[in-house]
Amino acid sequence: AAPGDYSNLQVEVRGNVGLVAIHRPAALNALNDETTAELLDALQRYDRDSTIGAIVLTGTDRAFAAGADIKEMANRSFSQARRRDAGSFMDLFFALRSPTIAAVRGYALGGGCELALACDIVYAAEDAQFGLPEVQIGTIPGWGGTQRLVRAIGKARAMEMILSGRRISSREAEAWGLVAAVHPEDKLLTAALDTATKIASLSQPIVQMAKAAVNAAYEMPLRSGVLYERALFQSTFATQDQKEGMTAFLDKREPKWTNA
Ligand code: HXC
Repeated sequence: AAPGDYSNLQVEVRGNVGLVAIHRPAALNALNDETTAELLDALQRYDRDSTIGAIVLTGTDRAFAAGADIKEMANRSFSQARRRDAGSFMDLFFALRSPTIAAVRGYALGGGCELALACDIVYAAEDAQFGLPEVQIGTIPGWGGTQRLVRAIGKARAMEMILSGRRISSREAEAWGLVAAVHPEDKLLTAALDTATKIASLSQPIVQMAKAAVNAAYEMPLRSGVLYERALFQSTFATQDQKEGMTAFLDKREPKWTNA
């Protein structure tokens, strides 16, 4: 598909930021196979594009995404589920090097909540609701929710949400550390684009190393994570942008990043 050729997405470049909006409003942006394939295609295109320094992922007014598509999953057999391995989508999503910012309005449920949790920064509108209601339909989270929600908000609150299916408001999500900030509905996208633009104005290799180091905190024991950070820190000294950044500071001028 050429950029813009998607059935269930709206994509747009804003300066150095890639904007991807899930657009399947009649199903509250439920993530069917076609939509997840389009999402990966769009996100990976922006990730490979050297002019794009950050990605904003959003939905429509009523929903970021109400989860994986239940109609599509309902009659799947174990062997079909295993062969399809829907969870691998999240591995590929998590492998994106560009910083990702989720701008969440309305429902972020099930796979939609897990998609937000896999983004690097989450901003929520006042009307946003987060939940992992899978137990209510006879399954459990399958895109990392049981792991990432525990790390984001702790075991007690994650257990309550995952075992009961209770939805939480954007204010609770903010207080619990699941979202970085809550914005009025009409200011949300601008806030996300502003942060993305700021990130995209910096050196891409440096920002990507910072992202990789923070994500290591999710994946590694502390000692390994600290060593990984140290190796990446030392690697920044192999870039021209480190020389430029520090020289510009000492010269009291703005740095000119070349992503080299
Ligand atoms: C398919 C969905 C859907 C979903 C909503 N729709 N969520 N279709 N999959 N996950 C559809 C409805 O069927 C309906 O279509 C239309 O969107 C509007 O939804 P309503 O239910 O009529 O709206 P409302 O009464 O306002 O309720 C909103 C809602 C509810 C609370 C968000 O739709 C809901 O509970 N949705 C399911 C949430 C959920 O269980 N998500 C987890 C899925 S499992 P029609 O055609 O009737 O108009 C999952 C696993 C992830 O995500 C792991 C993957 C590996």
